[in-house]
Amino acid sequence: MSKAELATLCVDQIINGFHISDNSLRTIKNLIGQEIELGLRDEDRATIKMLITYVRELSRGDETGTYLALDLGGTHFRVLLVNLSEGANEPKVTSVVHDIPHEMLVTPNGQELFDYIALRLLDFVKQYKLKRRRISLGFTFSFPCKQYGLTQSILVKWCKGFSAGGVVGTDVVKQLKDALKRQLAGLVEAYIDVVAVINDTTGTLVACANKHRECRIGLIVGTGFNACYMERLDRCDKWPANYTNPKQVIINCEWGAMGDNKERRELDKFRNEFDARVDAESVNPKSQTYEKMVAGMYVGELLRLALLKLYNCKILFREQRKCSSGASPVPQSAGKTQRAETSVSASLPLAKSAPPSSQNSLISLARSSKSSLGSNASSGSQTFGPTLSLSTTRTNNSATNGHRLNVKDVLNGKHLSMLASDELTGSFEETTKVMKELNIKRYSQADMSIVIKLASAITNRSANLVASGVSALLERMQRPFTVIGYDGSLIKHHPYFLKRLVDKTSQLTPKEFRFEFVQSSDGSGIGAAVVAAALHKERRPLYIVKPGKVYEMHFTKTQQSQLSLDTTIEQRSSLLAPVNQQQQQEPPGK
Ligand code: GLC
Repeated sequence: MSKAELATLCVDQIINGFHISDNSLRTIKNLIGQEIELGLRDEDRATIKMLITYVRELSRGDETGTYLALDLGGTHFRVLLVNLSEGANEPKVTSVVHDIPHEMLVTPNGQELFDYIALRLLDFVKQYKLKRRRISLGFTFSFPCKQYGLTQSILVKWCKGFSAGGVVGTDVVKQLKDALKRQLAGLVEAYIDVVAVINDTTGTLVACANKHRECRIGLIVGTGFNACYMERLDRCDKWPANYTNPKQVIINCEWGAMGDNKERRELDKFRNEFDARVDAESVNPKSQTYEKMVAGMYVGELLRLALLKLYNCKILFREQRKCSSGASPVPQSAGKTQRAETSVSASLPLAKSAPPSSQNSLISLARSSKSSLGSNASSGSQTFGPTLSLSTTRTNNSATNGHRLNVKDVLNGKHLSMLASDELTGSFEETTKVMKELNIKRYSQADMSIVIKLASAITNRSANLVASGVSALLERMQRPFTVIGYDGSLIKHHPYFLKRLVDKTSQLTPKEFRFEFVQSSDGSGIGAAVVAAALHKERRPLYIVKPGKVYEMHFTKTQQSQLSLDTTIEQRSSLLAPVNQQQQQEPPGK
């Protein structure tokens, strides 16, 4: 076999490692369906927690007024002022976006993170002269939270790169209120009423339902990946009260955790070596397995690791001729945050589908080739063997002199979108830009084609896996027609992700359950405001007391009269926080 043939074989093997057959997608769909059942019954045993949101009514589009919203769920957060007016008018939104400094994401003292948020809120309140107004605030907090009502939300675990200390197991609304007290020193706090905390999927569903009456699923495929849907109360065993109208509640699936269960590890056989590496290098190893195969925060890393492997094995970027487009080096200090760098000191095992003989071919190919690309990775001193040894350190970007393939998170969903647009047009315009960002100066068109193909394999796997989950929900709901409201950078901006998702969902779902994907406009902002507005119309909450737990519920007058007599109902909120919070002190590893 010639060297070129061997190289093609190796590339194909890596690409195949990202392929999941339709049969396997059906298996995954069924597994998700089973976990959904379990989560609604027995949260402790389930990996998909199926968290009750306490949002039960979808918007009727008649909410009015001006509301504040806070949106925290990725590496930046937003403060919004949303003006809802009746009728067909679009909500008027004024917002300010802030980057969250990396040190805040990982601070051992989580109060600092909430203080930072409170201060930005104060800036906003001052800027828009809201100081003298009483205003309700909806807080979109997009992390797995166990809710005991609309304003009590206990963080189960962090994900998406966050690890701020002292927050897991506590009520994030209380954290926010305490920070407001600390930072605003009583000046403004009294005027801001935190009336609801919601997940971004819930906001997406609520905002979309505002316009599309059949919307029952909210889907996010952005930095993270998750969905929520409207469930019947009689199918939700853990619902703490009895079944008042409307006999439904939005359930936040938190299905990114699918595959985390130590004994079952259901997704492991569909993962490859790059998935394992992404997981091992994340701040939350062995957690959010499904999410890490799909979401924007990880797909770029999967591509980078695959490229790094091909580079280290001397298959990619060996072209001697300097490519004109790569002439000007990328400034190394472009990123504001620190990044972890990975140096590879031995060869990597092959992707899951590679037979042993081809593993040998890859190794021998690597041995017999010389790299033409300057790198600060230890490519010169690599020893090839079956084991993988990685050392990851956090260093500043500016320390990197050569290519940036060893810089963690240098690629993200945006780069996959760029590569996909070249895939569609047949040009290399965007790919050339990606090469430039990676500071790769020598490459051929064949190399660029491989980069595009790899990105395509990763994207298709991601979209297909999303389809498995969506199809599981559609089949569970058994509705003749359902609108799926979606949001998130990957699904919104990638040139063909959505199409792929729609096609695969059709293939996996029985024909009688028709569906339509509709982009939800700013669910995390507008959705939070709509929920806040809906609550504004409601009266004071009631507190349902169960052994060891207190739930805060909102009932209409009719609903209250339907409540069973064995339910203890209190008007006081004082017992709410201490009881539930204490209960969550045990390790959250659920
Ligand atoms: C993560 C969070 C989840 C959120 C999703 C999308 O999966 O756990 O709460 O909805 O990201 O942002």
